[in-house]
Amino acid sequence: MPSPSLTQQLGIACPLIQAPMAGANTPALAAAVSAAGGLGSLGVGYVEPQAILEQAAQIRAVTDQPFALNLFVLPDAFEVDEMAVSYACEQLDALMEREGLAVRTRRPAAWAPLFSEQFAALCEARPAVASFAFDLITPAQLRELHARDIYVIGTATTVAEARAWAQLGADAVCVQGAEAGGHRGTFLHEPEQALIGLFALLPLAARAVEIPVIAAGGIMDGRGMLAAEMLGAAASQLGTAFLACPESAAAEGWKRDLARAEEHRVATISCFSGRAARGLQNRYTQAMQAHAPQLPAYPVLNALTAPLRRAASQVGRADLVSEWCGQAAALVREMPAGELVKVLAEEYQAARRQLALDVALRQGGYT
Ligand SMILES: Cc1cc2nc3c(=O)[nH]c(=O)nc-3n(C[C@H](O)[C@H](O)[C@H](O)COP(=O)(O)O)c2cc1C
Repeated sequence: MPSPSLTQQLGIACPLIQAPMAGANTPALAAAVSAAGGLGSLGVGYVEPQAILEQAAQIRAVTDQPFALNLFVLPDAFEVDEMAVSYACEQLDALMEREGLAVRTRRPAAWAPLFSEQFAALCEARPAVASFAFDLITPAQLRELHARDIYVIGTATTVAEARAWAQLGADAVCVQGAEAGGHRGTFLHEPEQALIGLFALLPLAARAVEIPVIAAGGIMDGRGMLAAEMLGAAASQLGTAFLACPESAAAEGWKRDLARAEEHRVATISCFSGRAARGLQNRYTQAMQAHAPQLPAYPVLNALTAPLRRAASQVGRADLVSEWCGQAAALVREMPAGELVKVLAEEYQAARRQLALDVALRQGGYT
């Protein structure tokens, strides 16, 4: 008997995963995608354990279809560079003063939720799928997930990282091309070494590992999904394509800026969170990216910039917030998430039919 395909294993009608997007996704977005036949994901990397349980329940209140929860893998304890913290506070306060924002930087009670507690909440929530970025989980954590029948997807930005997830025993690996919006999942290399285009990374990773490979980065329509399949992907993971949906939590200014994003201004940026991420260059990055080497690492800088990002969002200043998006952002379409899933599925099927027809015509000698 042939082994089940990834879509069969995940219980989804279409090889489409809505990417987890911490800070921009909502339970309503994940639920709408899952209800429409894709796999909705909820990135809960910034969310406290109790709220993870509540948000999973909100998805289940809308749909009984499978969905994914996603976490950033971080150590519970880490060194904090106090000089870098002071430097960041000075620079951020000066920027907020110049931009007329009334808030000031403050040291939070905790830099980030504890991963070990988030992981326990994820296990308790028991989604059909759990995906992870920023590092490997431990073999014991993998066993814990599998004991609950949770399908595990790791994120890789190079072949070596894809192999590491496969060797660990993950069920699938999502390869994140350089085009991808949001944080880079890189964990074995320097971020600038691991900016591999999806057209190169996907067939290399598909050749290197035996588990299903999921494609992420710059895919905005059904043609892109089929192209990814041709290069070895078992499914496509789209993030930016869902950012302009009404169910997305991206601010209106951010949504507006996506449609007019010029690809050469969608850059790798580390001055918002202390970790490389792809997004739009804007007024904030122009002021702060030059200071990046002196700023603290993730998650410390992420916590320090939170008051500025919140205050800027409240007054509609998208030019001061992290406008994460992939390189093909300008292809974004504004429509409800369920409708977008249907459009993507139709485009994907139409592209398949077109390809089959072209092949048949060529075989018949009609070209
Ligand atoms: C706003 C935003 C937030 C993201 N947050 C996460 C996240 O929480 N966890 C994660 O694994 N990936 C995250 N990503 C990366 C996506 O998983 C995926 O790699 C990316 O969206 C694919 O590229 P695309 O945006 O061009 O479709 C995020 C992407 C965006 C655009």
